[in-house]
Amino acid sequence: MTKTDIRHILTIFLIFLVCFIFSQKYISSLAKIDKNLYNIGMKYIIITYGCQMNVHESEKLAYICEKLGYTPTDKREEADLIIFNTCAIREGAEDRVFGNVGALKKLKKMRPNIIIAVCGCMTQKEQTANYILRTFPFVDIVLGTFNLANFAHYIEAVKTGRQLEILKEGEIDETVPYKRSDRDNAWVNIMQGCNNFCTYCIVPYVRGREKSRKEENILKEIKEIVEQKKFKKITLLGQNVNSYGQDLKDGSTFSKLLSDICKIDGDFSLTFMTSHPKDLTSDVIDVIAKEKKILKEIHLPAQSGNNRILALMNRRYTREKYLSIIKEIREKIPNCKITSDFIVGFPTETEEEFKDTLSLVKEVKFDGIFAFMYSPREGTVAEKMEGQIDQKTKKRRVNALLRLEKEIQEEKRNGRK
Ligand code: SAH
Ligand code: SF4
Ligand code: F3S
Repeated sequence: MTKTDIRHILTIFLIFLVCFIFSQKYISSLAKIDKNLYNIGMKYIIITYGCQMNVHESEKLAYICEKLGYTPTDKREEADLIIFNTCAIREGAEDRVFGNVGALKKLKKMRPNIIIAVCGCMTQKEQTANYILRTFPFVDIVLGTFNLANFAHYIEAVKTGRQLEILKEGEIDETVPYKRSDRDNAWVNIMQGCNNFCTYCIVPYVRGREKSRKEENILKEIKEIVEQKKFKKITLLGQNVNSYGQDLKDGSTFSKLLSDICKIDGDFSLTFMTSHPKDLTSDVIDVIAKEKKILKEIHLPAQSGNNRILALMNRRYTREKYLSIIKEIREKIPNCKITSDFIVGFPTETEEEFKDTLSLVKEVKFDGIFAFMYSPREGTVAEKMEGQIDQKTKKRRVNALLRLEKEIQEEKRNGRK
C-alpha cells in the first residue's frame, strides 16, 4: 500500500466518522420530540362542572394533556381534544352536560378526528356512562372518577376504538402533578370520598369511601407550593375535611394537619372546604383561632333548620348542636365569616318545617348561603322516600329563602345587625 492509499483510506474513515456523529445527534434530537410529535399544534379544552374537587382534578387532566403535546384553547370549535369533567350532584348539572355534549355532534361530523371525552362523577354511575355511549355515538372516551390519572393511556388507546372504563374504587394518585390554573390560590387535595351517606347525596356513590392522603405527602406538596412563591393562598380540599385522618389510624387529625401546615415557613394564607358540623370539633376551632395563617372563614353546611328533616337527611346533628357550634366559633373567633348550604323541599318537608330553616338563617345571620331545591338522585335513600315535594313548592321555598338572605345581607351592609 502506498502512502497515498493510506491517506485516502484515512480521509474516507474521517468523513465516515464525522457523518456518523452528526447522524447520531440528529436521531437523538428527533427522539426527544418524537413522543409528542403527533400532537404538536393540537389543542385541548376541559369543560368543568361541579365542586372545587373537580376544578382541581381538571388541573391534573390539563397537565396530562400538555405532557402529550396539546396546548390549551378556550374555543371548543378549534379544539382537537374536548374533555367534559362532569358533576352529578343535581339533575340540573347533569342536564347541562347532556346538552353541551349533544351540541358537539355537528363539530364531530365536520372534524371526525377530534377526540371527545366525558369523565367525572356523572360517568362513575355505570347506567349514565352507558346512556352517554348509546345516546352520543360520537363520544370517544367515557371514564369514571378513579381513572383520571391514567388519562394519557386512554388517549393513546382511542386509536383502537372507543374507550369505556369505570373503576369501582381507586387509590389517591400521587404520581401525576397539576397544572395549577388559579393565579393566587393553590388547591391541595387532602382526602377523597365520603362516608357520611346523607340520604339525598350522590357523592359517596361516585367518589367512594374516605381515603386520606398521608400527612407527609401533603406537607411536601405544600412546601413545594410555598417555595414557588406564586400563590398567596392554599385551599385544602375534601368532602368532609374534619374527618381527615380517621381512616389512616396513625393518630392523624385535621387539627394536627392544620397546625403542622402553619409551621411551614413562608408567606401564605390557609383555608379549607368543606366542613361537616358533626365532625367540627373544638380542637379545629381552637387551631383556626390560634394560627395567624388560617383565614377566619368557615363554610358549614346546615342543610335544614328542622330536627326531623335533619334526621331524615342522616346529618347526625340537631339544630341545637349546630347553633352551639356557631356560638363556639363566634366566641373564639369573633370576626369569623360563616357561610352555609341549605336544601329546601326535602321529601315530606312541611311548611312549618321549612320555616325552621328560615328561622335558623335569621338567627345565625350568615355571611352568605347557597340554597338548593332538593333534587332526587337515583340510587340514594331519599329518592325512594314517600312524600316527594312538587317543583312549584320547592321553587317558592327556595325563593323565600333567597329573599330572606338578601334582606339579611342588606341589613348587615346598612350596619343594623
Ligand atoms: N361535602 C359537602 C357538600 C358537597 S355537595 C358537605 O357535606 O357539605 C354541595 C351541596 O350540594 C351540599 O351541601 C348540599 O346542600 C347540596 N346538595 C347535595 N345533594 C343535593 C341534592 N340531591 N339536591 C339538592 N342539593 C344537593
Ligand atoms: Fe354528600 Fe353528606 Fe358526604 Fe357532603 S357529607 S358529600 S352532603 S354525603
Ligand atoms: Fe359534583 Fe362530584 Fe363534586 S357530584 S359536587 S363534582 S364530588
